[in-house]
Amino acid sequence: MDELLTKKENAIYVGNEKFIPFISEEKIQLRIAQLGKQLTEDYKGKLPIFIGILNGSFLFLSDLIRNIELKCEVDFFKLSSYGDKKISSGNVKLLKELNADINDRHIVIVEDIVDTGLSINYIENLIRMNKPASIKVVTLLAKPKSIKYDVKIDYIGFEIPNEFVIGYGLDYAQKYRNLRSIYILSEGKN
Ligand code: PRP
Repeated sequence: MDELLTKKENAIYVGNEKFIPFISEEKIQLRIAQLGKQLTEDYKGKLPIFIGILNGSFLFLSDLIRNIELKCEVDFFKLSSYGDKKISSGNVKLLKELNADINDRHIVIVEDIVDTGLSINYIENLIRMNKPASIKVVTLLAKPKSIKYDVKIDYIGFEIPNEFVIGYGLDYAQKYRNLRSIYILSEGKN
């Protein structure tokens, strides 16, 4: 069986592409605790539904809601836009609908990364059709230089450059989501 990772001096090699440590597990968890505290204050007295966009958001959502000190609910959409490529295909496919009735509910959309904004834009339009009480967006990572769609992000963990990142839910051809920290492409084909 292939070993899980080829690691040398903390870098991760995927073929001839080199990924170096970018955001540590400690930094991620610290920032999520801050976001959780902020959301707990902002949603006091409300019963929010945290809606994760699968697959990428599953780790962030699970850590985030453990930092929410309120009653809350969780549901998921599953989308696919990138396929196995590093650059957005520009198309979104809805692979799983919500189960919850979101009419008149307070919705917090949870993303691992907002890149072009296509996925968030698509999901917000879908959610809006069901007339929720409010919609906010929280993302662990945002690439401000790569946004192409008109989206408002309410809570951002980290703003990052327009580079390819993996780990903590973010994949490379579906792999490496299980890394505990985030790595950035430093050398190789982009
Ligand atoms: C990634 C990520 C976001 C989206 C962001 O999902 O999880 O949902 O791309 O890019 P955008 O702002 O340009 O839409 P992907 O389609 O790769 O699927 P995954 O969540 O299964 O990794």
